Amino acid sequence: MQYKVGNIFLFLSFTPAEKGQFLALDLGGSKFKVLQVKVREGMGIRRGGVEMEEKTYPIPKELLVGRGTELFDHVSESLKDFLHEKNISLDKKHPLAFTFSFACEQSSLDQGSLLGWSKNYRARGLQGKDVVQALRDAIDRTGGMDIEVLAMVNDTVATMMTCGFDDNYCEVGLIIGTGTNACYMEELRHVDLVEGDEGRMCVNTEWGAFGDDGALDDYLTEFDRDVDAASNNQGKQIFEKMVSGMYLGELVRLVVLKMAKLGLLFDGHVSDALRTKGKITTANVAAMEEYKNGLKNTRDILTGLSLTPSQDDCIAVQHVSTIVSFRSSNLVAAGLAAILTRIKQNRNLRALRITVGVDGAVYKTHPQYPKRLHKVVRRLLPECHVRFVLSDSGSSKGAALVTAVAQRLASQKRKVDETLSPFRLSHEQLQLVKARMRAGLEAGLKRKGSTAIKMLPSFVYRTPDGTEHGKYLALDLGGTNFRALLVNFKKGLQQNTRLHHKIYTIPLEIMQGTGEELFDHIAECISDFLDYMGLKNARLPAGFTFSFPCEQTALDTGTLVSWTKGFKATDCEGHDVVSMLREAIKRRNDFDLDIAAVVNDTVGTMMSCAYEDPQCEVGLIAGTGTNVCYMEELKNIEKTEQSTGQKMCINTEWGGLGDDGSLDDIITPYDVEVDQTSINPGKQRFEKLTSGMYLGEVVRQVLLDLTRGGLLFRGHVTEALKTAGIFQTKYLSQIESDRLALLQVRSILQGLGLDSTCNDSIIVKQVCGTVSRRAAQLCGAGMAAVVDKIRENRGLDHLNVTVGVDGALYKLHPHFSGVLQETARVLAPQCNVTFLPSEEGSGKGAALITAVPLLLTRQQETSSESS
Ligand code: BG6
Ligand code: BG6
Ligand code: GLC
Ligand code: GLC
Repeated sequence: MQYKVGNIFLFLSFTPAEKGQFLALDLGGSKFKVLQVKVREGMGIRRGGVEMEEKTYPIPKELLVGRGTELFDHVSESLKDFLHEKNISLDKKHPLAFTFSFACEQSSLDQGSLLGWSKNYRARGLQGKDVVQALRDAIDRTGGMDIEVLAMVNDTVATMMTCGFDDNYCEVGLIIGTGTNACYMEELRHVDLVEGDEGRMCVNTEWGAFGDDGALDDYLTEFDRDVDAASNNQGKQIFEKMVSGMYLGELVRLVVLKMAKLGLLFDGHVSDALRTKGKITTANVAAMEEYKNGLKNTRDILTGLSLTPSQDDCIAVQHVSTIVSFRSSNLVAAGLAAILTRIKQNRNLRALRITVGVDGAVYKTHPQYPKRLHKVVRRLLPECHVRFVLSDSGSSKGAALVTAVAQRLASQKRKVDETLSPFRLSHEQLQLVKARMRAGLEAGLKRKGSTAIKMLPSFVYRTPDGTEHGKYLALDLGGTNFRALLVNFKKGLQQNTRLHHKIYTIPLEIMQGTGEELFDHIAECISDFLDYMGLKNARLPAGFTFSFPCEQTALDTGTLVSWTKGFKATDCEGHDVVSMLREAIKRRNDFDLDIAAVVNDTVGTMMSCAYEDPQCEVGLIAGTGTNVCYMEELKNIEKTEQSTGQKMCINTEWGGLGDDGSLDDIITPYDVEVDQTSINPGKQRFEKLTSGMYLGEVVRQVLLDLTRGGLLFRGHVTEALKTAGIFQTKYLSQIESDRLALLQVRSILQGLGLDSTCNDSIIVKQVCGTVSRRAAQLCGAGMAAVVDKIRENRGLDHLNVTVGVDGALYKLHPHFSGVLQETARVLAPQCNVTFLPSEEGSGKGAALITAVPLLLTRQQETSSESS
């Protein structure tokens, strides 16, 4: 019996600063009305700044049961007439609110399919159809008007909204009119049909259908059964038929008729009028129960039915009327008590203070009804403070406000979408990125000297074969942290590799101080680790993962080409990092190491994963920075002397793609800003679109722009938002987690000093999602280029290959890996790529490279092969 009605909870969390001029249609109550609602600027509905003009249009009876299109044509013609009569310009676009008082299944504010007619409506061809679309179509058919139907709401919802403007506690809407129904604010976590679990959403109960499953059978009288049998919708709306205005008079008539037939009234006389359906109306019922004039009214009504009632007859008929209307108010009281009890339980309250907004002819015109209803509700719920507020201006005020919010949200959404559109890459654009990556790889292999993608030989000729053994020290510098590890390999026992490690943070002032300070700091960390392991005096072989571009001439030397990511220590570029580390160790003079290899983190990761999976011939880092290495045919590495033999692992340094301008067509102004304010402007352009160190900054730039445009954070650019680096990857990952409720997103943002509303949180999440999706797609496109190259190198139609992966973005972000894999799959359909996350970091790989069999140079291998 519950139907969702759109994200109305959003609206409730807003300050009512809505403004504008709206047309409104109110269809489904006793009157069909067209209205104009003006909400004056700066005042808001809450402060009474609303002007309304309305006109009631009769609906010919045959239209109620004719074709749906004709009914809606009439609605639309009436609208046009209204515009004409009120001199409202036909040239301008007018937003419109639609109160449609029937059961509709909604998936958004401006969509709703009709579940079924009720009351006196039965137009054909609309059931199951989107009513908003039907209205739009009718407006098009009428022509000559520019109308935007922005929201459709049930009358209960619109009534709750109308009353809610003056009373914050109004969280229930009740109609006791032609039909009856109630809506209330339910906790979103209980609304299965709608995503999200924070906040509340207004649920239109359609309680009129209570009893359609037989639940009220015990309470049904023969008169109820007769009313149902003679209705448009037999077996439907059972509760409504016991309660609402369309049926009360009829119930009284049937009881009076039976009593007359039994000789209990009018001396057994029965008139034709009394036999005629609809001859006693709810207005009659109200009149009969009027204080003072009730009896006289009863006599007049009965006389009008060609009856000659005695005084006793009048008293008896008045009594019948009271019993029927009392039953109605008691049933409504019981229904309301059920809703209020639920709200109270939802919120874990012992007492509840709440306001019920009410409308409908029965409630408004029956002299005793409100009093009786209030009394019984209060008796049923003595612990609740329930206030009833009559919606004196109908439901359109509320419908207009919902529409105002819908309009603002729609325009806001449009602007946010426009801002984000340059981040949404088409398939063609991704193909182009793949092609440019491929061209970059080729160029880097050919040319010595500076190319955008450096393609650095690693002097690692093959992946591990399981024969590695012994104890090694591994040092890992360049990711989020510095790590020192002790690795113990046992021959052929891949699973039993013993690892001990310790993590050290590198303070920013060290990353960006002098080279000597940086390497002294590292030496100090190693010394601490050896102390910790009790190995100060063992001269262990060590592998050094150094996650920056290094020009290598052998496995154990590497000249830093340029710093990337957050490092900028002086006097390092152009120097051999292994020598610098050796010198720092010498300066300390408290331990010694045999540094046998320096490797990039991609290479270390590939080796580490290849230890488990021999198909692993690619290493990928998606972390602070981004990079890829892969096994290239030696003959293709034209810039090196060694042009015969098998393969060598190449550290691509793909982060540099675009440094020659080749990505300028996809780079957004936000990316430019991030690049310009970085420590290496113009460098690592691909990395700046794709890796953890920069994504948060790109997001921040977009948020700044949206805030300046008034679309976010109420337009306030705060100090927090101006602070570079507030969005670390871990926050992006948390914000984008599907498991997280909006409330939690909000609390993350608040933790970052960004005071956000619920809607702000939605936008921030959308921005994060768009920026990280682009990152993953770009990496996927790059990966497609790499694996296709490997496939072509080998002249294969199809390649199975494993990519060893590491990095916080890949491992912690909820969607990055999925999008990356999907993009690679689509863009390299001839490759079957398995992504294998590295378990132990790249240090294990560095240690493997250090392990003896891999130390063999290619020449050594060839000579041993030939001997
Ligand atoms: C009106 C509202 O005041 O009350 C309508 O504007 C609503 O939206 C109606 O349907 C319900 O009462 P009745 O008595 O007209 O059915
Ligand atoms: C680690 C590796 O696990 O991941 C490092 O051991 C690598 O070598 C790092 O640099 C990359 O990820 P992040 O997120 O720390 O930059
Ligand atoms: C009927 C409709 C319902 C409406 C009520 C009051 O029960 O099905 O949607 O709210 O009448 O108008
Ligand atoms: C940067 C470095 C590169 C490293 C990558 C991932 O791009 O230049 O060497 O592999 O970050 O850490």
